[in-house]
Amino acid sequence: MDMFDIVITGGTIATASDTFCCDVGIRGGKIAMLGDGLAAYANEVIDATGKYVLPGGIDSHVHIAQPSGEGIVMADGFESGTLSALFGGNTTIMPFCLQERGRGLRQTLAEYHALAEGSCYTDVSFHLIVCDPSPDVLGQDLPALVHDGYTSLKVFMTYENLRLNDAQLLATFDVARDLGATVMVHCENEDAIRFLIEKHEAASLLRPSSHATTRPVAAEREATHRAVSLAEIVDIPVVIVHVSNGAAIDEITRARQRGSTVTAETCPQYLVLTAADLDGMDWEGAKFVCSPPPRDTADQQACWQGLRDGTFDLFSSDHCPYKYDSVDGKLNPKGARHFRHIPNGIPGVETRMPILFSEGVRKGRIDINRFVALTSTNHARSYGLYPRKGTIAIGADADIAIWDPELDVTIRHDDLHDGADYSPYEGLEVQGWPVTVLLRGKVMVRDRIMVAKKGDGQYVRR
Ligand code: URP
Ligand code: ZN
Ligand code: ZN
Repeated sequence: MDMFDIVITGGTIATASDTFCCDVGIRGGKIAMLGDGLAAYANEVIDATGKYVLPGGIDSHVHIAQPSGEGIVMADGFESGTLSALFGGNTTIMPFCLQERGRGLRQTLAEYHALAEGSCYTDVSFHLIVCDPSPDVLGQDLPALVHDGYTSLKVFMTYENLRLNDAQLLATFDVARDLGATVMVHCENEDAIRFLIEKHEAASLLRPSSHATTRPVAAEREATHRAVSLAEIVDIPVVIVHVSNGAAIDEITRARQRGSTVTAETCPQYLVLTAADLDGMDWEGAKFVCSPPPRDTADQQACWQGLRDGTFDLFSSDHCPYKYDSVDGKLNPKGARHFRHIPNGIPGVETRMPILFSEGVRKGRIDINRFVALTSTNHARSYGLYPRKGTIAIGADADIAIWDPELDVTIRHDDLHDGADYSPYEGLEVQGWPVTVLLRGKVMVRDRIMVAKKGDGQYVRR
C-alpha cells in the first residue's frame, strides 16, 4: 500500500449521519482511506484517542473587510478573520462581497479577492450582496458571476443604503431563479424600524437598548412573511438568514407546509444572548448591537427547538466585528451618544462551534451528528461545496477538526484571535474545543498551537 501523509488514529469520527471509530488515512490533501491498521503506513500519526474527529467547520455567514460607513472600520481583514475562524475549528468561511450602490459587482469582487489573496488561514468562498439591482447588474454582472461560480447572493430588506424594495426583490429573485443561484434574505421591515427610531428620538431614548426596541420581533416576522411570499410568487428557494425568534420560525414553517423550499439559519447570539444584554452600564450594551437583535428566553427556546427539529439547516456566526472602545468602532463619536450610529454586528467566528458544541451537544439538546450537519455539512450542501467539503468521506478534502470534548474553556477575548477588542460571550464557560485542525491535509493548528502560515487558505471556486 502507498504511504499516507498522515493517519489519524483512535478517534471517534462523526459525520452528519454516522458515528464510527476507525483510522483516517490522508494523502495528497484528500481523505484517501477509512479503515483499521492504517498507522503502519503513515509518515505521520496523529493520536486522537478520546477525541472527536469531525469535518472542519464551514461558516457560511461571515463579514470580513466590508466598508461600513464613514469613519467606521471593520475589525477583521482576511488574515485575522480566517485565523480566528481556524482556531474555532473552521476550515472554510464564506464572506460577502458587498456591492455599494452605483458600483458594479465585478470590480468590487476583484477588490475582495485582492484583499484575500495570500492572507488566509482557511479556505474562502464568496457570496455576493446585491444592493443595486440595476439592469446592468441583473442582466450582465450577475449572470456572468454565477457562471464563474459565485452562485449565492444576499439581499437586505433593511438598512437605508442596502435595502431592496419589493419590486427589486422580485426582479432579483426572478433573475436568480433563472440562473439557479441561491438567494439569502435579511428579513426586517425598514419602514417600521425607521418609524420606531423617530419615535425613540422624539422621546430622547438614545441608549443602546433602543436598538432592540426599534427592531421588534414584528418587524422581523412581517419581513420574513413577505420574503417567503415573494419567493413563492417567483417560485425560487430562499435562505432566511439569522432568524432570531419563534414568530419568524412560524412563518418559515408555514411556508414549508405550503410547499416552498425555504432554508433557515440561526446564530449563537440568538441562543445565549438576550435583549437585556443591550442594557449594560456605560454604553456596554453597544457590544451586543446586531441585527436582528437578541430577543428573550422564550425566543431562545424556540431557536433551540428549531435546531432540534430540523427547521434550521444552518448555524452560522454572522461574524461582523467592530472594536468596542474605538473611535472607528462601536464608540465612534456619534455611536457613543446615539444607538442609531452604533455599527451593527458582533464578532463570533471563533466561538460559534464551541458554543453550539457545549450548549447543544454537551447539554444533550442535539446529538453530535446534528452538530456536524448544522456547522459544516449543510453549509457545503446549501452552497455548492459538497461533497468536496463538509464531510469525512473518501475523496473529500482532508478538512478536519479534532475536538477535545472534555476541555473546559472560559471564553475570554484575550485568548481569541479576531481583530475586535471584546467578545460578546466573555466569561461564558464552555466544555469542548477544537484542539487540532487540518486544512486539505495540512496541520494548521496542533494542540491549540499555530503551526501553519498565512496564505495556506485558498479561494474555493463553486
Ligand atoms: O448586525 C449584523 N448582523 N450585521 C451584519 C450584517 C447583516 O445584516 O448580516
Ligand atoms: Zn443580515
Ligand atoms: Zn450578516
